[in-house]
Amino acid sequence: MRLLGTMRINDMDNLEIGGCDAVILAKKYGTPLYVFDTALIRERCASYTKTFKSSKTETEVIYASKAFLTLAMCRLIDEAGLSLDVVSGGELFTAMKANFPPERLYFHGNGKTVEELITALQYNVGTIVVDNEFEIEMLQYLCAELDKRVKVLLRVNPGIEAHTHAYIQTANNDSKFGVSIFSENIYELIKSIHESYYLDLRGFHYHIGSQILDHNSFVKAIESMVEFIDKVRTDSGYETKELNMGGGFGVYYSEHDNDLDIEQTLTAMVEAVETECKTRRFPIPKLLIEPGRSIVANAGTTLYKVTATKETYGGRKFIFVDGGMTDNPRTALYDAIYEAALANRMKDETDTTFTIGGKCCESGDILIKSIQLPYPKQNDILAVASTGAYNYSMASNYNRIRKPAVVFVENGKSKVVVKRETYEDILRNDL
Ligand SMILES: Cc1ncc(COP(=O)(O)O)c(C=O)c1O
Repeated sequence: MRLLGTMRINDMDNLEIGGCDAVILAKKYGTPLYVFDTALIRERCASYTKTFKSSKTETEVIYASKAFLTLAMCRLIDEAGLSLDVVSGGELFTAMKANFPPERLYFHGNGKTVEELITALQYNVGTIVVDNEFEIEMLQYLCAELDKRVKVLLRVNPGIEAHTHAYIQTANNDSKFGVSIFSENIYELIKSIHESYYLDLRGFHYHIGSQILDHNSFVKAIESMVEFIDKVRTDSGYETKELNMGGGFGVYYSEHDNDLDIEQTLTAMVEAVETECKTRRFPIPKLLIEPGRSIVANAGTTLYKVTATKETYGGRKFIFVDGGMTDNPRTALYDAIYEAALANRMKDETDTTFTIGGKCCESGDILIKSIQLPYPKQNDILAVASTGAYNYSMASNYNRIRKPAVVFVENGKSKVVVKRETYEDILRNDL
C-alpha cells in the first residue's frame, strides 16, 4: 500500500496517520472508522488555490462537497478559503449550519425542488447553477415572489466523452446534466436568461466526469467551450463573464492509476483558455473549478476489524471485515480498486492473495476483489486507503448497519467529527 499524506510506519510496525497510531484509533473509537488526514486536505486546498491562477483574469476554487461533507469539513474548507458547491437541500443545510458564507456557495443539481430553491434564495446563496428550462422558469417565478435577484450559471454539456467509468462520465450527448451546446434552442435559452430581470447570467458551467487521469480531456473541453462562447457572443451578443470548468481531477487509488499531475493540468487549462480567447479576440472570463475527489480521496482511510477468513470450494480466499458496501459502495458501483494493509502488521510479508468481503447480505458486497496481504488473524485491523471521497457521503444503512464514526487526525491528535450511529439512530424515524 502506498503511504499517502502523513502516513508512516511507526516503531511498533503499525500504520500511523496524522501522527496517530491506527491500531490505537481503532481501539479508542471502534471500527469501521473513517480517519481523515486533515493536514493533507489543507495541503491539497492550498495547492489548488496557489496553482489555479492567471495573470490575466480572476480565478476561484470551489470544493465539490458531494465528495465528503460534514460541519467540520465545511469549516475546514472555509478556513482554507475555498468556495463550496452544494447539490441538495441537505448539503445546503449543512453549509448553513456551519455558517459558511452564502456568497461563496454554488447551488447545483439537475432536479432541484421548489423547496430547495426557496431555501437557497432565502439564504442568499451566491450563485445558482441552472440545469434546464423548467428550473429557469421556476427560479424566475420564485425570485419574483420573494423579491430577489440571483446570479446564475447555465450548466451546459460540451459533448466530451472523458476517459473514465461510464457511470461517472457526465458530458456525453445523452447525459442527464445540463443543456447540450449543440442543441438548437440553446441560444434562445441564453437570450431569455440574459434578458430576465431576476436572473443575472454570469456565464456557463460544465463538468465532464470524474476520476479523469488524462489531462487532454480537460483541454479538449476548453477548446469546445471557448468556441461555443464565441458563437454565443456573435449570435446573442452575450459576453460570458464566468466559466466554471467543473471538477473530475483523478487521483491515485492503486498502481492501475497513472498519477494525474494536477498542477500541470491546471496550468495547461488556464493556458488553453488564455490562448483560445486571445485567438478569438475576446476577454478572458473569470475561471472557476470544482474539485471534490482530489481534495479528500487520499486523505481518508477506513479502518476495519477482520472478523473471519474463509476459503471457498472454488479456491477463493476471503477476508471478511466488520463493514462493507454500506460504508464504501464504490467497488460495487464502479469496480473501484483500492489498496489496503494490515495496520497492525505493516512489515509482515504480503504473500497471499485475498478478496475482501463486506458483511452485507449481497454477493456484490466486495471491498477489494484481489489484494496481496499477510495471512490475517481475527481482530487484525485492515486499513483501506484513499476512501476519503464518495465513501462517507455515499454510505447507507443497508441491512440496518450503522454508519461509522468520522475522526480527524493531525499532529498526533484525534477528534471525532461525526459520531458513530447507534441502533437508536437507525430507529429514530420508525413509527
Ligand atoms: C457538477 C460537479 N462538479 C464537481 C464535481 C466533483 O467531481 P470530482 O469529485 O471528480 O472532482 C462533480 C462530481 O460529480 C460534479 O457533478
